[in-house]
Amino acid sequence: KAGLQASLLAMFDAAMFKAWPLAKSAGITSSSVRKCADYKNGDFQCNAAMALFKALKGGDGAPSSPQAAASAIVASLPVNPLVDTTSVSPQGYINIRLRPAFINQSIAKVIKNGPAPPEVKKMRVVVDFSSPNIAKEMHVGHLRSTIIGEAICRVLEFCGHTVFRHNHVGDWGTQFGMLINYMKEAYPNFLTDPPNITDLTTFYKAAKLRFDESEEFKEASRNTVVDLQSGDPACKEVWTLLCDISRKEFQKVYDRLDVTLEEHGESFYNDMIPSTIDMLAEAGLVSRDDGADIVRLEHFTYPLIVRKRDGGFGYDSTDMTAIRYRLKTLKCDWIIGITDAGQASHFHMCFDAARAAGWVDEGTKLEHLGFGVVLGPDGKKFKTRSGDTVRLVDLLDEAVRRMAASIQERMDEGKMTTTKEAAAAAAAEIGYGAVKYYDLRQHPSTSYVFSYDRMLDTRGNTAVYLQFAHARLASILLKAQDELHVDVTALKASPEKVSVEHESERALAFELLMFSDVIEACLADLGPNRLCEYLYTLATKFTDFVTNCRVLGSDEQTSRLLLCEATGVTMRKCFSLLGMKALDRI
Ligand code: ARG
Repeated sequence: KAGLQASLLAMFDAAMFKAWPLAKSAGITSSSVRKCADYKNGDFQCNAAMALFKALKGGDGAPSSPQAAASAIVASLPVNPLVDTTSVSPQGYINIRLRPAFINQSIAKVIKNGPAPPEVKKMRVVVDFSSPNIAKEMHVGHLRSTIIGEAICRVLEFCGHTVFRHNHVGDWGTQFGMLINYMKEAYPNFLTDPPNITDLTTFYKAAKLRFDESEEFKEASRNTVVDLQSGDPACKEVWTLLCDISRKEFQKVYDRLDVTLEEHGESFYNDMIPSTIDMLAEAGLVSRDDGADIVRLEHFTYPLIVRKRDGGFGYDSTDMTAIRYRLKTLKCDWIIGITDAGQASHFHMCFDAARAAGWVDEGTKLEHLGFGVVLGPDGKKFKTRSGDTVRLVDLLDEAVRRMAASIQERMDEGKMTTTKEAAAAAAAEIGYGAVKYYDLRQHPSTSYVFSYDRMLDTRGNTAVYLQFAHARLASILLKAQDELHVDVTALKASPEKVSVEHESERALAFELLMFSDVIEACLADLGPNRLCEYLYTLATKFTDFVTNCRVLGSDEQTSRLLLCEATGVTMRKCFSLLGMKALDRI
């Protein structure tokens, strides 16, 4: 059960190599079947003939024209349930129309079983995402990692992969020397009388101030890191205290965003680091450089530092150990690390080192998904007016506050009636959804300007527009039941009654059929933006459909309600894969 496009591609590949056996050795690898840009020409198009003609030209039995090359492919197609008609254009394009019966049956299946994931080889995947640093505020960069990571995990799980959602929190870095030292200095009795710190940012800032002003404090901080990492109990105690405070704050954000993570922070790997370095050394990868142990890699100008001059371990050795743990202990065959694009070379160096050490089996995928920067209206890194980094919680609060105001406005205008609680719940749902969707719809690597106005716009490619489209859909089914006394449950039990006729119905049905191809593409290039694009297209095709085709009270009512239902389940699946909830009414 590959996706539709994938199935067609396989079928046309086979026909092409059957008709033109020399194609492969002439360098042709694919029959290039893709969606038609203009559905008036066809549903799909095979664009192989021109390249084929050029590649085979002059040889024995070469096609006389691109058109002839195409016709021979068509003649080699097997009898199949998918393709209705094909037509060959003078330039050699093969336009493909799907069989109406195939379309109807596929829609019926969606209603019966829900949209189907593509069939893929099941893998064990670690997704390393969110990963904020303890005692520091989670900022918009971590928001991107959290939102993109959650969506990728959901898509992976939907496809049947085993997913480990790892929060690689920064809980072991050099900042702790400074923080612990400051604790000792400012709260000498911290062990018996621990301070009630609720605001770690203030604490962090105060510690940083001391750190910057005093050489002595700096030196002491460095020693404290070593103490902590070698297990000093008093240091450990402060460390635990600080981690707990941070953890609670992080969890509040995850709860709000409906994100699930398992903490496997830097400290988790600490005890395993020496053996990692031994393994790298045994593989002949470690060399000495100015007192430090390093791993030099081809293609990179600077090395990985696996042991610092003072004997301490840092980010590099921790990540090498994390990779080893994920591959060897968890037996994963796919690692996806999600951070800002600035860390791309760090990840690629670690991956290369793991390969050089012989830890990576064939077929194992090591990927880094680097995302762009969230910008302010001035085109610079998103900051508050006072120049501080924007706190994630404030940002989410603001989105919800604005959404609540706009719902209130609609209620005042009499455009909607609902209870206070339902309005508040909708504001939160749409508010968070809007922030998520605005992020996810961008290509991960692009930087984008953060704008509440654009995020919360009711028109265009926004979560709010999608929610409206879905609510419109839900209201049609509701009306059928309440006002026209259609037994919707019985209707859903006879999905074979769907019969797609009108052009707009067909355009919508065609998109519904593309679902598993999109899911596949989404994982192939780790781009939830693919799914957003799809959801938006679905919503616009649905809007066209209900604008051009009367549903309630028409002769085609049964079939059209079923098409609404198929669209509804598919849209809701997309929403949930993106980490959003679809609302039935707004
Ligand atoms: N804590 C890091 C940061 O805030 C991200 C960690 C990502 N994961 C990793 N295995 N390095 O930038």
